[in-house]
Amino acid sequence: MTKSDRERVFIFDTTLRDGEQSPGFSMNSDEKLRFALQLEKLGIDIIEAGFPVASEGDFESVQQIARKIRKPQIAALARADLPEIDQTWESIKEAANPRIHIFLSSSDIHLKHQLKKTRDQVLKEACDAVKHACAYTTNVEFSPMDATRTDMDYLCDIVEAVIAHGATTVNIPDTVGYAMPDEYGGLIAYLFANVKNINDAIVSVHCHNDLGVAIANSLSGLKQGARQVECAVNGIGERAGNASLEEVVMALKTRKDILGFQTNIKTEHIYHTSRLLTDITGIPVQPNKAIVGANAFAHESGIHQDGLIKKKITYEIMTPQTVGVSETNIVLGKHSGRHAIKEHLSNMGYNLTNDEIDKVFARFKELADVKKEVFDEDLEAIISDDVFRKPDKYKLIYLNVVSGNAAIPTATVRMEVDGETMQAADFGVGPIDATFTVIKTITKTNHKLLKYAVNAITGGADAQGVVTVQLQYDNRDVTGRGADPDVLVASAKAYVNALNRLESLKVYNHKKR
Ligand code: KIV
Ligand code: ZN
Repeated sequence: MTKSDRERVFIFDTTLRDGEQSPGFSMNSDEKLRFALQLEKLGIDIIEAGFPVASEGDFESVQQIARKIRKPQIAALARADLPEIDQTWESIKEAANPRIHIFLSSSDIHLKHQLKKTRDQVLKEACDAVKHACAYTTNVEFSPMDATRTDMDYLCDIVEAVIAHGATTVNIPDTVGYAMPDEYGGLIAYLFANVKNINDAIVSVHCHNDLGVAIANSLSGLKQGARQVECAVNGIGERAGNASLEEVVMALKTRKDILGFQTNIKTEHIYHTSRLLTDITGIPVQPNKAIVGANAFAHESGIHQDGLIKKKITYEIMTPQTVGVSETNIVLGKHSGRHAIKEHLSNMGYNLTNDEIDKVFARFKELADVKKEVFDEDLEAIISDDVFRKPDKYKLIYLNVVSGNAAIPTATVRMEVDGETMQAADFGVGPIDATFTVIKTITKTNHKLLKYAVNAITGGADAQGVVTVQLQYDNRDVTGRGADPDVLVASAKAYVNALNRLESLKVYNHKKR
């Protein structure tokens, strides 16, 4: 590898694998494909599409992504188990550039308490697995899980051995988010100093954020020679999540002066990618989230505003446009025509078919009748609800709620269940409780309500309410979202959306391998 190749950092996105496996972030296969298409547009080098042996649903969605996405490499995760590697290969073999990603724990803590295996056994299994995968492809990645709590010399032995057996990428996971930045960078430096064939592979970083230092650790690893970063959009992932893609990419770009790296990411698609994920999963990012939070480019203090008016550089280290946040995200109103909407959607990064634009336009007109200004966030909610939502088992048709300080909260609901119209009415502790009780009765469903939250999509008293509902059934958590100018209607929509999501995931659960 030449010096100039070494300045390039490869971005490996694991939103669809490490991210999707965390509670509440489950996606169905159409949603995963839609998100993978956006990752392709963003310029991701490697998409980790899933863990195909987890269930038939996971296998099929990895396969679908492998068939449809052509530019990025498509990786799939497998344990160091030969039949599992065979199945994993089946899921990605039609990709333009498939990668098998094998993992096996290497720390004594995991060996003793989880695997109940010796270091020699694990070393041999790692080599056998890599050798087996190399019979399918030369693009093989190996991850010694819990690397940061592994004896350093044993880690060097494993890394050297898997490279000797054909691994072309070696990933060093901080699985439990335990390492500190200097320590993590030191570990990568140690590998470069002590593994004689280290330059035959790309070294990768994979840092979890349990102590809030995932980005610092990732950058520290890069400084010591790693050239692949594993990360996830909005920082989602196991527990406190993974290093966030947008943060690592923007740190590399904004501080290129001292870091000296470049990526292939088209940063102007970052914001849209982040929004797409929150739309699909129903889980928003906190307002102060770096890069993609609602306040990331909002300047509230008078002194800051004064400085910005005089010269942007006073308080702005990167422009909102660099990440695709348009400065004027307003404003479409009831006089805006179809052409303006089409143009605006395309500026927002949506290339929709004529039929899809018709659907969005019809809903836009309805909304513009009740709301003076329609914002990008409103359009995104419409697109999610009306364009990309799969035909649902449950559909809300009618909702009437009576409540007040002298009324017993009562809801009447009419719904379609598998095309059949049904209705019922009931009381509740409050109007939301009454609505949910009736929906539960009509759908004959049984699940636990984990979370209910209301937010306003935009400012103003006429803002659409966006409701997030998290349900749990059979150990699967799903998040439903609904948007409407009426918060009660938004609540009912969110609840019904969550039920539909549970339905689509149940199909996968039944087909678990
Ligand atoms: O955190 C971790 O160790 C992982 C591996 C499977 C790469 O996600
Ligand atoms: Zn991980």
